[in-house]
Amino acid sequence: MSVALPDFPWDSLAAAKAKAQAHPDGVVDLSVGTPVDPVPAGIRDALASVSDVPGYPTTHGTPALRAAAIDALRRRHGVEGIEPDAVLPTIGSKELVAWLPRLLGAGPGDLVVIPEVAYPTYEVGALLAGATVARADGLTQLGPQRPKLLWLNSPSNPTGRVLGVEHLRKVVDWARERGTIVVSDECYLALGWDAEPVSILHPSVHGGRLDGLLAVHSLSKSANLASYRAGFVTGDPKLVAELLAIRKHAGMIVPRPVQEAMVAALTDDEALAAQRERYARRREPLRKALKDSGFRIDHSEAGLYLWSTRDEDAWQTVDWLAERGILAAPGTFYGPGGGRHVRIALTATDERIETAVRRLK
Ligand SMILES: Cc1ncc(COP(=O)(O)O)c(C=O)c1O
Repeated sequence: MSVALPDFPWDSLAAAKAKAQAHPDGVVDLSVGTPVDPVPAGIRDALASVSDVPGYPTTHGTPALRAAAIDALRRRHGVEGIEPDAVLPTIGSKELVAWLPRLLGAGPGDLVVIPEVAYPTYEVGALLAGATVARADGLTQLGPQRPKLLWLNSPSNPTGRVLGVEHLRKVVDWARERGTIVVSDECYLALGWDAEPVSILHPSVHGGRLDGLLAVHSLSKSANLASYRAGFVTGDPKLVAELLAIRKHAGMIVPRPVQEAMVAALTDDEALAAQRERYARRREPLRKALKDSGFRIDHSEAGLYLWSTRDEDAWQTVDWLAERGILAAPGTFYGPGGGRHVRIALTATDERIETAVRRLK
């Protein structure tokens, strides 16, 4: 391989997985955030309705898709001022996260800042571009450096931490002084529990200027569309135009039926509310059971994970849970700062969550 990438972290979970799978009543796999609930019928109908379109889809997405994204951001998250041309569909958000530094021209000698404990693909994207990676949650840690790009992720995977408006505004001001692009990964924005997550594109954060700002959205979690690969990026029209130009050349195109499904997903607020309800219903008993069995849960005020610790090495906790037939991801997957936590996902059926709760008792 021409770039040295980290080992794929999930491979190292094989032994714990085998142990958890040996439980007589089966494994409760809470190690990955993959949706398990049905794809809403309206979305499936929309997908099927354009299954007989033989021509190429457009990289920029249909006008209806871009309008639906803008309307959903306004209705659901109070985002204003997005231009229709400044929405660009992506093949899920992971590919965009992995290629964004490269697509925006980052290269050797450039710095990409990612959260201290973070979704692993931010680091991968910087490495694919040949850029240098720094992990930082605070601006003072960065001193006089002028990063090319800075990632935010609120609500966070894996910690569930939500960044407040003040924090976001400070980052935006700091980045503007340095010509740093701020990219906010907002794939859990609709899943706030004890805090109300705010988009970087909310007027209270950017003060009416979108230059240098991008928000990355995904329909995987909010609409159970992980298998469809459906996301979009929006914000600064100039940056989005740059991305569009390259992605057209590179064939990074969302299939036409998926574009139609995205319109349905972005329009259906009832389906989103129902899904939120399911996750809320699973979160509370699991949280209580973890606490009652000696865990402390940090952050986790939003998103799909309980960032949990028994104040011991993460792998010891993974093992403790595996003995009870429960599989969790060690915090080390997300950076050295995660070494004493495990990430426990809410993405399992009601029956499996109830089983986990019983086993923790
Ligand atoms: C923080 C974060 N960003 C992006 C993604 C990628 O999601 P997708 O590619 O399904 O849109 C995930 C998936 O778990 C994630 O947790």
